[in-house]
Amino acid sequence: MKNRGILLMIVLAIFIIATCAYAQEEMLKMEHKAFENRQRPGVTFPHAQHFATIECTACHHFYVDGENVWDESRETNCATCHGLKAEGKKMGLMKAFHENCVGCHRETKPAAGKSLPVTCGECHKKK
Ligand code: HEC
Ligand code: HEC
Ligand code: HEC
Ligand code: HEC
Repeated sequence: MKNRGILLMIVLAIFIIATCAYAQEEMLKMEHKAFENRQRPGVTFPHAQHFATIECTACHHFYVDGENVWDESRETNCATCHGLKAEGKKMGLMKAFHENCVGCHRETKPAAGKSLPVTCGECHKKK
């Protein structure tokens, strides 16, 4: 009996470690170099958790004549197009992130028992 208990604990431990390692890969650590003299810690973004239910083009875009024609061959790094300062209709980098992330979190009604991060500290977590 005692041995079975230990075995069960080992199996459980391996399972937990394996799922953590898996979850880690699905996380994007976002700390853009473009932001010199950072004011906030970077953001850990659960990318895969998002694209499991949300279309790629809700966040990624490549506009041609006002139409979003983004596909996987296109640019994914937001800082390639959005500079620190806004240029015409293209907003600055910080605003681009906040409008995208916070905008959707405010508009979306979360599943029961969940809440989506909208306050600074919920995304910019101290390490
Ligand atoms: C909720 C928003 C969102 C959705 C949905 C989304 N992405 Fe992303 N994706 C991002 C952000 C933000 C980054 C990081 C960009 C940056 O740091 O400049 C990123 C980065 C990436 C990268 C580069 C990093 C990496 O993991 O290799 C790829 C490739 C990518 N996305 C592909 C996709 C594809 C394909 C889909 C749809 C299946 C998708 N994304 C859906 C927001 C999203
Ligand atoms: C290939 C260049 C390019 C890349 C890469 C890019 N953007 Fe944009 N983005 C633009 C342009 C151009 C506009 C202005 C579109 C317009 O209204 O004419 C824009 C507009 C926006 C807007 C305003 C709403 C909308 O969708 O039009 C948000 C928010 C935004 N970008 C966030 C992001 C985020 C977040 C990323 C990275 C996941 C990103 N952008 C990557 C070029 C880019
Ligand atoms: C189009 C809508 C949309 C956009 C854009 C979006 N999110 Fe989310 N976000 C969601 C939804 C829906 C959930 C809840 C997902 C779930 O429960 O599986 C979520 C959950 C989260 C969570 C909490 C995960 C958890 O389970 O605790 C974090 C952190 C997060 N988002 C960060 C971001 C960041 C950072 C960005 C911008 C780079 C972003 N999100 C853009 C819709 C969005
Ligand atoms: C839903 C997630 C989310 C929330 C909520 C959010 N941010 Fe951000 N913020 C981001 C992402 C993603 C970036 C770009 C990633 C990075 O830090 O490089 C960013 C970038 C920034 C930057 C530029 C980088 C720096 O540190 O100088 C500042 C400043 C900032 N946010 C301040 C705030 C403040 C203040 C609040 C609250 C009013 C806030 N953010 C709320 C996701 C969020």
